[in-house]
Amino acid sequence: MSRKVILDVDTGSDDAVAIMLAALHPEIDLVAVCSVKGNQPLANTTENTKRVLDLVKSDVPLYKGCKFPVVRDVCPWRIEFDNRATAVDENGKPFYIHQDFNSLPESTRKEEAKPASVFYAEYFAEPKDTTIVAVGPLTNLATAILINPDMVENVEELVIMGGGDIDANSSSCSEFNIFADPEAAQLVFQAGFKRIVLCPLDVTHKAMVTKDDCKRFVEIGTPAALFADKMCQTRIEVHTQCQPLTLPDACALHDPLCIAYLIDPSVITKMEYLHVDVSLSGMTDGATIVDHRYFQNNRNVHICYDGDRKKFVDIMCDAFKLSK
Ligand code: RIB
Ligand code: CA
Repeated sequence: MSRKVILDVDTGSDDAVAIMLAALHPEIDLVAVCSVKGNQPLANTTENTKRVLDLVKSDVPLYKGCKFPVVRDVCPWRIEFDNRATAVDENGKPFYIHQDFNSLPESTRKEEAKPASVFYAEYFAEPKDTTIVAVGPLTNLATAILINPDMVENVEELVIMGGGDIDANSSSCSEFNIFADPEAAQLVFQAGFKRIVLCPLDVTHKAMVTKDDCKRFVEIGTPAALFADKMCQTRIEVHTQCQPLTLPDACALHDPLCIAYLIDPSVITKMEYLHVDVSLSGMTDGATIVDHRYFQNNRNVHICYDGDRKKFVDIMCDAFKLSK
């Protein structure tokens, strides 16, 4: 029985692979996609999402989301995003892990008139056997909760790519999706969703994709497989120059791991049920604070710490073979 999924993205190179995996894999019934400001401004993440949906020939509705974080941009005391991982090509020209606009053809697709947060608030006005997978800043979801707080009981499961217990990428102790809108994340983590599964950097930095895995994508040769290879090659180069992982010639492919977990939960090999808070100020602004004490009594998040790298890549290969 396929899982009904709503995917919330800030497309983004790894978001693009998550969209393709969700749209192509038979175990996922992609109900809707929502865009949010994150890796790029909202206009860019929305256009990039449309282009990827065109590539996989998906007719799923797209809801445009929030253009700004809940309050972060109006708080002058917030620490700035201190370094965008910048690699340089053979000519010394800088390039990044997420392009302003991806290389796919411009889309003519129209987004729905309804804003993403209103869509969430109305869709989950009653119990739905639908899972939300949020792989960008949590602004849309936080806004939806403010509109309809009761929606949290009607979401089957919420899977989030974000945060880091030990690992960080946007300040000394924060991960981008949470750092970009900490108040939204704290609202979501404490809102009372029935089940939250968090895929932080601690697991996505282990479930890596290597250059050898990319050779499999090229051998598959379909439009989705070749685009996934293209996204990974750029990511591998940036990781190699700016954020080396434990395997050489490898990249983290954060967002699709959340979809792979829904397809086959055994792709996650270590998960703990703990309390997670989000810091909203000072040097730890945007950090996810995980309570590891044995006696804690307000556990709210199932946090993933390790995964099966090979199974993750196999799941993506199975889906990309179906792209036409
Ligand atoms: O920190 C990684 C996360 O931030 C990923 O979701 C990536 O797409 C960016 O949104
Ligand atoms: Ca993302």
